[in-house]
Amino acid sequence: RYGKACDIVVFGGTGDLAMRKLLPALFYLHRDRHLHPDTRILSLARARHDGDSYRKLVHRHVSQHVAKADFNEQAWSGFADRLDYMTLDISQRVEFARLARHLGDRPGRVRVFYLATLPDLFAPTALHLESAGLVNDEARIVLEKPLGDSLKTANDINDRIGRVFDESRVFRIDHFLGKEAVQNLLALRFGNALFEPLWRNGHIDHVQISVLETVGVENRGAYYDHAGAMRDMLQNHLLQLLCLVAMEAPVHFEPEAVRNEKLKILEALRPITGMDVQDQTVRGQYSKGKRAGEALPAYYFEKSVDHDSNTETYVALKAEIDNWRWAGVPFYLRTGKSLAQRKSEIIVQFKSVPHRLFPGNDTPVGNRLVIRLQPDESISLSLMAKSPGRGMALQEVDLDLHFDEAFKRRRWDAYERLLLDVIQGDATLFMRRDEIEAAWRWVDPIIRGWREVYRSPKRYAAGGWGPEAADSLLERNGHVWFDER
Ligand code: BG6
Repeated sequence: RYGKACDIVVFGGTGDLAMRKLLPALFYLHRDRHLHPDTRILSLARARHDGDSYRKLVHRHVSQHVAKADFNEQAWSGFADRLDYMTLDISQRVEFARLARHLGDRPGRVRVFYLATLPDLFAPTALHLESAGLVNDEARIVLEKPLGDSLKTANDINDRIGRVFDESRVFRIDHFLGKEAVQNLLALRFGNALFEPLWRNGHIDHVQISVLETVGVENRGAYYDHAGAMRDMLQNHLLQLLCLVAMEAPVHFEPEAVRNEKLKILEALRPITGMDVQDQTVRGQYSKGKRAGEALPAYYFEKSVDHDSNTETYVALKAEIDNWRWAGVPFYLRTGKSLAQRKSEIIVQFKSVPHRLFPGNDTPVGNRLVIRLQPDESISLSLMAKSPGRGMALQEVDLDLHFDEAFKRRRWDAYERLLLDVIQGDATLFMRRDEIEAAWRWVDPIIRGWREVYRSPKRYAAGGWGPEAADSLLERNGHVWFDER
């Protein structure tokens, strides 16, 4: 049932990701008996802690991040027994010998090296692991996004990692693929015969993919000011969602089959270059604003952000896929921080009826499928129905499926699912090297275009809906963002 026992080694063990996501996810996996009884977790970071003080710190965070009803001291105590800490300076090769001694030579155990660190450290860490003799056939490396900041740097990291770890043992994580609702998109498309015949340009008018956040950059200013919304969100999460909406049915639900199909979509994205950068993309940055009476700061006043920063905190664009299925269907993508509402959703807008049968219904609207990932997970399909009473006036009504009502079970967090997949060696929901590179190949010219001719981002008020230019982008094509503003 459990497979092999595992050593899970978390680099960046005191960081935000470890505390907010990885350790709570591992806690749940422990509590729900998905971890081998002999699986151990070793966190590493520069901060001085001993095992006890580290466990105390983790207790505080895990008990906060796990639902109250799910946390209990008995489960915690079993989890704490698995957990250890070691002070280690990741940049110092000699320190890895200590790590090797700590892990010991215990054949048959799986080793998972989780790099919750800056991408600059990925390649050196892999080399240090190798020189300390820690990379064997059972070793896997997990890399957090963003992988590099351009095609060139991503290539470089991938080359250097590839010299130490075979591609089958590199797990490039995109936590959006671990979200239940995202996997449900695959179930919806390929587990039902209903949608697939309509899932193409003959029937679909356009697609909207939105990941809107209310949070600003919080305490990640130093990282974010270099990355921006394009590298932080669009190059990875949004393009992955686009792939899942657009890809052909894979032959098997297995890593290579699924990833081959996603890659074909990334390769079919029409390049956005030259003047098209101006016409098809919008970048924005939040200035001061308000939400529910509360004053919100401008981006350039956030902690560790350059006061003259030109980094975008919002991006919207029109993507096109040059293949038979999708020719002529715009895919509008947008993501941003410090906006009015937190929501992540994919909207598939179908074409309207070809002939108006009912008098008085002059503006026929097509059906709309809304796959909501956040804050709640739901799928809804808008249909036209007759409104009660005399005549044949039509009205839009929704068929709604809320997953927490349909399945009265706890919804797994993305990291639980993905960590378990790594432990079990299943890379289906992880990005292959060529996918990352194809995504950068498409994104690089847009970023270059911005740098050369379109430097300053458009301002939008924090707490609002993003720059007006993002609305005009759709209006020019006869569309609107589906928001409840
Ligand atoms: C991360 C980004 O990958 O995803 C963050 O770096 C963003 O900037 C986060 O806030 C959003 O993830 P989720 O799961 O909270 O929607």
